This record gives sequence, C-alpha cells and structure tokens, in this order.
Amino acid sequence: RSGSTVKEVAEALGVSAPEVIKKLMELGELATLTQTLSDEAIEVLADALGKRVEVIGAAEDETAEPEVEDDSEQLEPRPPVVTVMGHVDHGKTSLLDAIRKTDVAAREAGGITQHIGAYQVTVDGHRVTFIDTPGHEAFTALRARGAQVTDIAVIVVAADDGVMPQTLEAIDHARAAGVPIIVAVNKIDRENADPQRVRAELAAKNLTPVEWGGDTEFVDVSAKTGQGLDQLLETIVTLAELSELRANPNAPASGTVIESRLDTGRGPVATLLVQRGTLRLGDPIVAGTQAGRVRAMTDYRGERLKEAGPGTPVEVLGFDGVPEAGDRFRVVESEREARRLAQERAQRLKQEALARQMRRRVSLEDVLA
Ligand code: GTP
Ligand code: MG
Repeated sequence: RSGSTVKEVAEALGVSAPEVIKKLMELGELATLTQTLSDEAIEVLADALGKRVEVIGAAEDETAEPEVEDDSEQLEPRPPVVTVMGHVDHGKTSLLDAIRKTDVAAREAGGITQHIGAYQVTVDGHRVTFIDTPGHEAFTALRARGAQVTDIAVIVVAADDGVMPQTLEAIDHARAAGVPIIVAVNKIDRENADPQRVRAELAAKNLTPVEWGGDTEFVDVSAKTGQGLDQLLETIVTLAELSELRANPNAPASGTVIESRLDTGRGPVATLLVQRGTLRLGDPIVAGTQAGRVRAMTDYRGERLKEAGPGTPVEVLGFDGVPEAGDRFRVVESEREARRLAQERAQRLKQEALARQMRRRVSLEDVLA
C-alpha cells in the first residue's frame, strides 16, 4: 500500500524487516523500520527481492493544493494575465517598457522601477497584468511544472528578422497551454522591416491574420517609437473581455512563483502571481519546499502593499529560502503549518529522487548480471 513503512512493506512482501533494510542498504539507502517508502521505492525494492507488487491507493500528497471549485456568486472580475514571448532580442522587454511608459500611473510613480518580470498597466480603466519571459527557459520551467498562469500570449516577432526557432517554440507553448495568441510584429520602424513577410511565415504555421480571413490578430508595433502600442493594448483588452476572467478574492491566497532570487541585503525575494484569494501582509505562506510569512509586499513600482487580489503580481519578502519559479504557493493557517508542509514536500522530492536513483542502479545491475 502506498505510503507504507519499511516494516509494513516487509510484511506485505513476506520477508523479514532486516532483509528489507539490508536490501535497501545495497540499493544505497539507509532506512529505519518506521520510515515510509515512496511507491517507486517499494516497486524497486520488490523488484530487487524478486517479487512483484502492485502499489494500491495513490500516495496522498498533503502538500498538494486542495482542489477548490468556487461558487459562481463568489467570483469577481480579475485582470487578464498576458505573457510576452518570442525569439531572443525580438524586443519583448523593450515592448513592455514602452507599454509601461504609456501608463500614466506608472509614469507618475516616477523613475525608480524595480526590475520584476511582471507589471500591471491600466488601459481605459481595465487593469492588465504582463509577464515578461526573460530567456525562454523560465517559461519552460513554468510550463513544465504545469503552471497555468497565462490567459493570453503575445508573441513578439521582429519585422526585420522574421519567424525564428524560438518564435515557433513560443507558439507551441501557447498552444499547449490552450491560450489565445496575439502577434506583435515589432521593430516596424526599421528600414528593412517586412511585416507582410512575418504574416506569410506565420500563416504557413496556421496563424492566419484576421485581415487575411483567419482568426489571429496581428498588430504592427515599434517599441522604439511607440507606434501601434495603443492598438496592441486595445486588442488585448478586447480579447480579455471576451474571456470574462473571474476569480474568488475572498479566500486564502494561492498562485504561482514567477521569479525568485537571493538578494544580499533582503534575503529571499519572490515575485508571486496571486491567482485566487487575497494575499495579505503577515500571511503564513508555503511555496514548494519553502515556508515563511509575508513580511513585506510591493507592487511592480516598488510601492508597499497591504494586500493583493487575483491577477496581481507582487514581490514578497519573508520566505526562509528561495522558492523555485513555477512552484505553486498558498497561504495556510500558521507559520508552523507552512514549515511542516514545506518539509514534507522536501522529503517527498528527496524520496522521488532516491527512487529514481535506485531504479537506475537496479537496471545497471541487470545489465552487469
Ligand atoms: P531577450 O530577453 O534577450 O530574449 O530579448 P528581448 O526580446 O527582451 O529584446 P530586447 O527588448 O532586449 O531588445 C533587443 C534589442 O532590440 C535592443 O537593442 C532594443 O533596443 C532593440 N529593439 C527592441 N524593440 C525595438 C524596436 O521597436 N525598434 C528598434 N529599432 N529596435 C528595437
Ligand atoms: Mg528581454
């Protein structure tokens, strides 16, 4: 049975507990009688003892987020989360910077913009959350963890360079996530810009422009001159409105870690995207194998916040260690509970790694035998 101890596994396999412990030792694991074994470890162990097992009952992962369905009357409109993706140097970050400059609120806050990879902009009274993808590994990491953070993908293609390998990868990511795509044809100020060629290249990949009778919006822009930015924002807002995005703000907060780093002065710093509930100063929090308490929270302008609702990106201080981009986070009852969950998760990851290692060793023995 899933989550069994060494003692229980020995009984189930009809061998003595010392025999199990000895076998585990041969497989490179020092175990005690009361230690629980992961499903994979049990299978590998049984294999090594020449027994066949079928582990029943999926291991309960207490650290996993409980599935919650909110009643529709609890749901309120939330800002769309727009991820900006594309080939290296096609102008993703420049485009976001230019968009931020169109935003009065951001301009009034003056100069000191923190670098966090997520921003909010207000367009005709609608808030829109943007996520930059700094080097596209970050986005792959997010996706690999099954994080569904984005509602709309803006694929940036430089009009003087055309469709490149990472453009296609970005399109694959967006399609795999099942989110609508808007194409921003950037750098149209350049002399050798050829926005029609970009359309033709993408039409060949089944992204046919609306003006050609397809259903993908293409917008010509220049991050340098600001041309087309209003139209891009309008297109985003229109598409977002069609999606009627909603979330429950009256719940303990949960969401995804977008970025994280260790700051020499301030310690672990994490950019979190709140996706459900409202995150508040002082909340006990767990993200992956890291726990803590929200000690300080700032928005993308570096302004202190007391709370942040769904669709809001925030920079948070107060984790004991650095959580990983793509990790889910959630607020729990107490810091003690957060620590317990983080430790359990770390233990679980360790066991899974160990089982993989044991499996490799066993297959190596088979080869050598
Ligand atoms: P990575 O994050 O490295 O993938 O690059 P990026 O896509 O964020 O590109 P970035 O914004 O760093 O821009 C790359 C270069 O293109 C910079 O030198 C920008 O100044 C330039 N650039 C970006 N947008 C435009 C534009 O609209 N017109 C012109 N002329 N240059 C641009
Ligand atoms: Mg960039």
